[in-house]
Amino acid sequence: MKVLVTGGAGYVGSVVVEMLLKERFSVSVIDNIVEGHRSAIPADIPFFEADIGTRDYVRKILGSNQIDAVIHMAGETLVSKSMSHPQDYFLGNVSKGLELLEAMRESNVKRIIFSSTAALFGNPEYTPIDEKHPTNPINAYGRSKLMFEQMLDWYHKAHGLNYVCLRYFNAAGATVEHGEHHRIETHLIPIVLQTALGQRDHVDIYGNNYDTRDGTCIRDYIHVEDLAMAHIEALRRMDDIGPQKLNLGNGEGYSVKEVIEAAREITGHPIPAREADRRSGDPAVLVASSERTRSLLGLKPRYPEIRQIVRTAWDWHSRNHHGYPD
Ligand code: UFG
Repeated sequence: MKVLVTGGAGYVGSVVVEMLLKERFSVSVIDNIVEGHRSAIPADIPFFEADIGTRDYVRKILGSNQIDAVIHMAGETLVSKSMSHPQDYFLGNVSKGLELLEAMRESNVKRIIFSSTAALFGNPEYTPIDEKHPTNPINAYGRSKLMFEQMLDWYHKAHGLNYVCLRYFNAAGATVEHGEHHRIETHLIPIVLQTALGQRDHVDIYGNNYDTRDGTCIRDYIHVEDLAMAHIEALRRMDDIGPQKLNLGNGEGYSVKEVIEAAREITGHPIPAREADRRSGDPAVLVASSERTRSLLGLKPRYPEIRQIVRTAWDWHSRNHHGYPD
């Protein structure tokens, strides 16, 4: 199967590309390299440095590479930025996403796997969050991803587009080759590890009075390789199981303080932490029920435990102190 990966030079994208190549898929990548890194993509696969909003160009890529399916991971991803710059989220995730869908419709490409998010659930009414849980985003990021999912419903009804939306919980960890490097880092695990490397003097804990076991936010951290394998199984099975909206987490929640503690154990560094104000747009708890996804996609996580996840991230960060060279 010939697959076009949008956002394939990003953190999750680069690992999805790595796994697709291991599993012998034919892979092309489109990425505008605003957040992604050219060196995260092998030099010998077709790479198009462009924005997904360039409909005519995307249509040419789809046609000339005889693409059978798109894995759509390009987009804006930061909860906090979406609260101050919501326009970027509606432009990047909704408008440009629509241009991509139009390029696909015009090229008769009928399969899409979409990187969606747990952020579309908002503050959970119950946990773990299953696929029947209502969607009620409390940040513009989650809203923009939900809007794209809703567009997929209409493209399915009207044009027969088949889709699998994978609603990621918190992607974390690294493979030997690929890890997490954002130009401006806001994510907990890389910030904690940068502190252990001496690149920061402390970690801020955003909020200590949430209604959780230790007052800090709880998240479901899923290893990026397990996350990538879900895309591969979704591609293989989507003609039989689609359309689907699936939650993709580990089913286990860890608080901010527990993640810091795990990193202290693994790195042997004291990792100083300070209590800070809540970050706007953060739900208290996001934990997935992953049963449906695991049974539909036949998945068994390779890294089910937070220490294993943090260890792989630490291995990568210790070898790549400043991330990718570019
Ligand atoms: N946090 C801190 N200090 C930091 C950074 C983060 O306390 O320096 C806290 C956050 O407040 C949050 C938790 O650590 O409670 C995790 O924060 P991240 O920024 O690592 O991740 P988010 O939960 O905000 O968001 C991630 C992805 C989203 C996705 C979401 C779904 O970035 O794309 O998980 O759960 F939607």
